[in-house]
Amino acid sequence: MKFPKDFLWGGATSACQFEGGFGKNGRGINTQDCRYFDPSWDYDTIYNHNAYVSDMTRDGLNKALADDGVVNYPMRHGVDFVTHYKEDIALLKELGLKIYRMSICWSRIFPTGEMDSLNQEGVDFYHDVFRELKNSGLKVMVTMCHYDFPLALVQNYGGWKNRIMIEKFVNYSTFLLKEYGEEVDYWLPFNEINAARFSHWDGLGILLDETENIDQTVFEAVHYQFIANALTVKAAKEIVGKNNICAMVAAFTIYPATCNPDDVMQYLEDERNANWYYLDVMARGYYPAYCRQLWEKCHVTMDISEEDKKILSKNTVDIVTFSYYASQVASVDELPEVTTGNMSGSVYANPYLHKSDFGWTLDPMGLRVILNKMYYRYLKPVFVTENGLGAFDTMEDGTVHDDYRIDYLQRHFEAMSAALNDGVDLIGYTMWGIIDLVSCGPLTMDKRYGVVYVDYDNSFNGSGKRYKKDSYYWYQQFIK
Ligand code: BG6
Repeated sequence: MKFPKDFLWGGATSACQFEGGFGKNGRGINTQDCRYFDPSWDYDTIYNHNAYVSDMTRDGLNKALADDGVVNYPMRHGVDFVTHYKEDIALLKELGLKIYRMSICWSRIFPTGEMDSLNQEGVDFYHDVFRELKNSGLKVMVTMCHYDFPLALVQNYGGWKNRIMIEKFVNYSTFLLKEYGEEVDYWLPFNEINAARFSHWDGLGILLDETENIDQTVFEAVHYQFIANALTVKAAKEIVGKNNICAMVAAFTIYPATCNPDDVMQYLEDERNANWYYLDVMARGYYPAYCRQLWEKCHVTMDISEEDKKILSKNTVDIVTFSYYASQVASVDELPEVTTGNMSGSVYANPYLHKSDFGWTLDPMGLRVILNKMYYRYLKPVFVTENGLGAFDTMEDGTVHDDYRIDYLQRHFEAMSAALNDGVDLIGYTMWGIIDLVSCGPLTMDKRYGVVYVDYDNSFNGSGKRYKKDSYYWYQQFIK
């Protein structure tokens, strides 16, 4: 394998899955604090059902507001990075990482989402974290919004269905750029912006039972996020003046099931609707003509003003990034086997590929394929901001012998090396959940991604202690 000397090897986490600190230090309640989980549910309920419903109703919200515990609301607990951050950053340094991707908890900075609610303690916390990272020689990529935002913005405005969210977000992002512009190396306004189509609560904070035409609402809300993203790019150019703004999608790598031309057309459409719709707007600056077909199919009317079009075209991102976990298959016929994938409860399985403990297709070549597509479509640097293996790990003699994770990493790194050789301008890789955290779909601890084990079970029994897995030493050696 060959990688450039300055390749950014890294690890990634998100505030809602990692930080904890619910109800402390002035942090406001946010949308992820309200997602319900019951540790007594069985495997099928957790991993085949709960993992793919990030929908919220008014009743669900009221139930969450009446409960200030953490066991049924795992995102409130995370793995307590707020207490452990020095120790965690020391582990990342010893691992030899060059970059750490993390997110800022919006409600820690602005508890209600309004500018006058500024929480100085929260602002200082991130200065401390960035200082610790710099002193450890790590660059930092910051996601401004990784699925959590102040709940008050849902209660007062209905979340992203309201155009006022553009103003709220841009106030917040401009504040971050001014406050931390010198300390942060790369900015990513929205995690997996395309998740909004499937995960209405995670992506948009929309209450399902208070939304009449969900498709119309979702497309409009995503448009507001595109505008908020573009205005953040504009602010970043004015305030920071570097080419360091990223866009991100959850990459759906899709293959036609056969060479039946109908399957091929289906694959083309699926890939446009899942990936390119979003990146074309953020990286090229306009809605391509094919978007009209998608809107028509979904009975959606989009009336985009000339002013909005101008904002989008003038403020495109510098770097294209994506998460990659699995690939899927497109077919016009019904296929015999259905499986699961990132944010997809049912996708056609690929008979050529094996699956993870959770049914996600393992496909390193798919990473090479999507890297080539991303790069040659936009001709901008690309960055793999998430990739990794969720697995059930077993602690033995103070460690985890996760040869399956080592094999996964090795094969995905080979695919990246091959993509570099294909001419792709791949600049970095941040392995997902580098230190174990609460999984996002199922809300469990026992779906683990890290090279560091964190001693908590699904009810948060445990010491919270960190243990290096075999993969930690492997990744350390590899980076070296
Ligand atoms: C991505 C998200 O979609 O997938 C992460 O950005 C998430 O937040 C990751 O954790 C893996 O999904 P899960 O459901 O296994 O945690």
